[in-house]
Amino acid sequence: MRKLWGGRFQGETDALIAQLNSSLPFDRRLWRQDIQGSIAHATMLGATGILPQEEAMKIVEGLKALEQELAEGRVALPEDAEDVHTAIESLLYERIGDVAGKLHTARSRNDQVTTDLRLYLRDVCDRLTEEIREFQQTLVALAEREIQTVLPGFTHLQHAQPISLAHHLLAYFWMLDRDRERLHDCRKRLNRLPLGAGALAGTSFPIDRRRVAELLGFDAVLPNSLDAVSDRDFAVEFLSAAAILGMHLSRLAEEIILWNSPEFGFVELDDSVTTGSSIMPQKKNPDVAELVRGKTGRLYGNLLALLTVLKGIPLAYNKDLQEDKELLFDTVDTLLLILPALRRTLQTARFRAERMEAVLEGDFSTATDLADYLARRGMPFREAHEIVGRIVRYCLEKGIKLEALDVATLKTFSPLFDSEVLALLTPRASMASRTSEGGTAPDAVRAQLAYAKQKLAEP
Ligand code: ARG
Repeated sequence: MRKLWGGRFQGETDALIAQLNSSLPFDRRLWRQDIQGSIAHATMLGATGILPQEEAMKIVEGLKALEQELAEGRVALPEDAEDVHTAIESLLYERIGDVAGKLHTARSRNDQVTTDLRLYLRDVCDRLTEEIREFQQTLVALAEREIQTVLPGFTHLQHAQPISLAHHLLAYFWMLDRDRERLHDCRKRLNRLPLGAGALAGTSFPIDRRRVAELLGFDAVLPNSLDAVSDRDFAVEFLSAAAILGMHLSRLAEEIILWNSPEFGFVELDDSVTTGSSIMPQKKNPDVAELVRGKTGRLYGNLLALLTVLKGIPLAYNKDLQEDKELLFDTVDTLLLILPALRRTLQTARFRAERMEAVLEGDFSTATDLADYLARRGMPFREAHEIVGRIVRYCLEKGIKLEALDVATLKTFSPLFDSEVLALLTPRASMASRTSEGGTAPDAVRAQLAYAKQKLAEP
């Protein structure tokens, strides 16, 4: 394989060093973007007269033909190439001869590689945004079904107040909605063109960067050539948005794992998303959710790894920057696997409404409603809290449920209680009473659902 920099060298590269140096094993997935960027560059070289039009055309045609051949699998990237850029250029040589050597006029691999990467991540952001949207759609569909399903809401993993299952599921909708916004935002900032920065200092050729930006669909050109070739903020931002998304998915996965345990029994996962044990015949394990939780570790790791790679790099390009790609690709592959897998887990899950309601029995989760009742009758809430605390203690000592108390007993704690209080002590009444905007009452959840659907319909 012809090297792009052979002239200055007499000796051969050591095989081990070539292996260390090579990025082809992983950057091969950028071949489409590399060709796309080169077509735009060559077009601009022709349009500006830096290359004669017919030579530029020959390069562009050659690149297009090569793209077709690669897409159809009629040709493979040469395995001994140093990186994807070298590989594409050498294939172009084989097709159009020496004129291929003119493609690299007014360009460096330093501005080329980060252009490729931005083009790649731009598509990835779009794809992930769509995956998240589908996940959100699943949550909306489930929520629509479960507005009236009541379960304990938890704080400190202790029963706190009754809530609607729809409300619980929609909490994740909004986390994912912010994730979508973050990716959208990340896409905006990465959609700026580095090409034209050359190796680091710009070029003496009369290039037209704005034309290239237009051809590639970038919103702007990066204004500083040193920054253009050495900036990887966009990759850090992407990995950061991905890590936050993973954190959300992991929290949901953790709840699925808990809820699927016999102690909770809130959900039963489908056979298609669970696995068995080689020794314990009774087992049905929530592996998908566990892997989502586990793989979130990688997403964090990739973010931290890139930040660490970048922190000591002096301007401008340094080979350390080659380390960005495997981290990005691993995060992309991980998300494209766990997002649909967890979505399927939810879609096929059987939520056990009867069990959720049953565990609310005698759990004191309507105690706040009792205190609110007194407060509505004019008692300072602090005092009401104190009195209801005493009522709870009384019930615990007597071994009776809060909802089993009669008015006569309640009156011994406060004369403000009367018969209508009893109706408030059921989980359903408690849930229905929380009508504030963003609350768990069915009507509030319906309003939330309408807003959620509106957000999903936005581009
Ligand atoms: N393969 C390199 C990377 O991924 C791009 C090539 C830049 N190499 C160079 N010697 N300037 O960053």
